[in-house]
Amino acid sequence: MRMLPLVSIALLALSPAAFAAGDAAAGKAKSAVCAACHGPDGNKPIDANTPKLAGQHEDYLAKVLRDYRSGARANAIMGAQAGNLKDQDIDDLAAYFASQKGDLKEIPHN
Ligand code: HEC
Repeated sequence: MRMLPLVSIALLALSPAAFAAGDAAAGKAKSAVCAACHGPDGNKPIDANTPKLAGQHEDYLAKVLRDYRSGARANAIMGAQAGNLKDQDIDDLAAYFASQKGDLKEIPHN
């Protein structure tokens, strides 16, 4: 019985989603503000400077949101958007947009 937590950790490590604890349903609830620019489901951005989010890799979305928050990726608009996000918000939003079907060409994940 004492081995059980170790076994769970080992199984988690095998799962591609192990890096994040994002909850897509919670992310959807937090995404209304994002939809104003990225479109519903992250599929219909308002202009050519605004990227589609639907179907992007979850770990990429989570990383870039942290980069906007820290300023490592400098962008006035997204810096302001990400500035107040907590880690859990970022993981939830990343899980939500990654789970949406998009028409971006999928690049295989390592
Ligand atoms: C006022 C318009 C606006 C709002 C609101 C907005 N974004 Fe953005 N977003 C942009 C623009 C413009 C860019 C491109 C910035 C750049 O060139 O780095 C961007 C880029 C991004 C990227 C990078 C995508 C990529 O392919 O690299 C992510 C992820 C992202 N936004 C997520 C969000 C999330 C999550 C929210 C809601 C919390 C949000 N955005 C709200 C305009 C917006």
